[in-house]
Parts: sequence; structure tokens; C-alpha cells
Amino acid sequence: MEFAKYLIEPRLFAGLPPDWRWVFGREAPLVVEIGFGNGEFLAEEAANHPEFDYVGFELSLTCIEKAGRKFYAAGLGNVRMVRLDGRFGLRELFADESVREVIVNFPCPWPKARHAERRLVNEGFVRTLAAVLEPGGRFELTTDALFFAEEARDKLAATGCFEVQGPHEIQGGSRTRYERKWRSRGRPIYRLVAEKGAPAKIERIVEGRMPHVRLKTELDKVDIPKVVVGLKEVWPRGAFVIKEAFVAPGGDEVLLRAFATDEDFSQHFFISVSKDRKGWIVQLDSATVPFRTSAVKRAVFAVASTLEKNAQA
Ligand SMILES: C[S@@+](CC[C@H](N)C(=O)[O-])C[C@H]1O[C@@H](n2cnc3c(N)ncnc32)[C@H](O)[C@@H]1O
Repeated sequence: MEFAKYLIEPRLFAGLPPDWRWVFGREAPLVVEIGFGNGEFLAEEAANHPEFDYVGFELSLTCIEKAGRKFYAAGLGNVRMVRLDGRFGLRELFADESVREVIVNFPCPWPKARHAERRLVNEGFVRTLAAVLEPGGRFELTTDALFFAEEARDKLAATGCFEVQGPHEIQGGSRTRYERKWRSRGRPIYRLVAEKGAPAKIERIVEGRMPHVRLKTELDKVDIPKVVVGLKEVWPRGAFVIKEAFVAPGGDEVLLRAFATDEDFSQHFFISVSKDRKGWIVQLDSATVPFRTSAVKRAVFAVASTLEKNAQA
């Protein structure tokens, strides 16, 4: 399990973005790779550039484990990985103008039109790049999917924040597993590089600490599952729903399974409704640690106010 020391869990941090100097124990320029796969490129870059600190985002647990083993075997101290959607991670975990370079190698191209919104390089992503990259900072995309690289070029150019070069076909060695795979099948490989000129303003969605709600009323006579299961709210930038309830044998704790979305970022989590010496309390349950977004907060507050209304009725 030694490789696990490379995996960081930003949901546990008291505030975001984290102070990366604290994470790495020093101040160094930050480089981010999104979708690092088996981690060979990230490991090699980190070993070749000890003067930089590297943060990788990946969704696949298998990839996280493979990459972590490589970092551990190489004894690297300047790399960390986060299991998180890189679009969300880049926006929420980095302050404006704090990243030297963002690298993406062979992102899933999602070629079908109906899957277009799943593509990594969307409008939100290019605005995030324009916010978090340092002045003169660099975005590098390598892919076999020319349409993807061209679409990325157009989206980057439309911000007016970048000088974009490419996509150009590149020759030479293979830096990643997917590069080897596509080259062995004779496919051309393309690279696009964008250098940041002007910054963009973005809004971040993770908020501060999650307050609990202490109820002013008794809930002993309230059928909590009946009142809150199915409770939902939908607003232009988010939504939540309470999916189901689990009641503890004594009846003085109910665990609610909830689902919330903020723009394109979704989270499953539990809300606990429990009784202690001072009365009833509604709070996030520690079994799951969601990012404290406005949708998560609204779910907790809505559960609390719905229960109070029913207790008073
Ligand atoms: C086609 S593979 C490429 C892997 C590696 N970069 C390479 O070139 O061999 C794409 C990788 O991106 C990861 N991925 C897809 N969407 C992602 C996202 N939104 N954030 C982070 N990783 C993502 C996938 O799990 C997968 O490992």
C-alpha cells in the first residue's frame, strides 16, 4: 500500500484550493496531467524534472494503483495523484495563475455527436485553463483524433486568451501506452500547444465548511423517511434529490442517501438525521465526504427545514 501516499483526497481539506506548498513541502512550479492512464509519462516527467511538482488527475482506480506503484518504485517525491474529473479538479484545486503547464495525452475523444458534452476540452475547461495557467503558461494536447484537436483549437481560440499552435502531426518516439498503440496501427499523431496570454474570470463552486443544522423541534413523532424521501429541488445551476432512508434500530438516527449536481459535477453522499443530548441534528454523514458545493448545502438545509415544518404541523 506504500503507493497510496501519492494519492491525495481534497474532499478532506478544510479549504480549497489547497496550499500546494503544504502538500509538497516546498514551493515549485506546478504541472498538471489529466487522464494519466498507467502513469508512465507522469513518472518519467517527474523523474526528469525534479524542479517541478506534478499533480495528476485520473478516474480509473486501476490506473491510480498502477501509476502509484511506478511513483513508489522510482522513489519520487514531486508527484501526487487525485481520483477526480480533471475538469472539476483543475477549476477547484488551483488558484488563478498558479499552474505552469497542463498536459493531456490521448483523452477519450467521444466521437459521437450525442456524446460531445463528455469531451474534456469544452468551453468551461478552456476558461478554466485561461484562469489557472500562469501568464505565459502552456496547455499541451496530444491525440490521434484530429477532429478533437481541431475542436480544441477552435474553443481555445474563441476565448481570445491563448496563442495556439497546431494541431501538427508529430513524429518520433512514444511517450504513453496509447501513443504506442495508435502508432503501431499506423495512425498519425497530432499535437496542439496553447500559450496563455490574457486571463479569464471563472466561478468556483466548492464553498467553505459545511455547517450542521440543529433543529428547534422534536422529531420523535415525525415519520422521517416518509417526509424526506423524494424531496428534491432543481434550479438553473444544480439539483438535489433524497433517494432513500435507512433507519437505525433505536429510531434515533436516520441515514439519507442523497444525490446532488452542480453544473456538470455529480456527487452521491449521505445526510444523517440523529438525536443527541441536546436534540436533533441534521448534518453530512462522515461515511461519504462530498465536496461542499451549493447543491450539497441546499440538500442539508432543505432536509432540516422540511423536518421542522412537519414537526410543527
Ligand atoms: C485513452 S486513455 C489515455 C491514457 C494515457 N494518457 C495514455 O496516453 O496512455 C484516457 C484516460 O483518461 C481518463 N479520463 C477520462 N476522462 C477523465 C477526466 N474527466 N478526468 C480525469 N481522467 C479522465 C481515463 O480513465 C483514461 O485512463
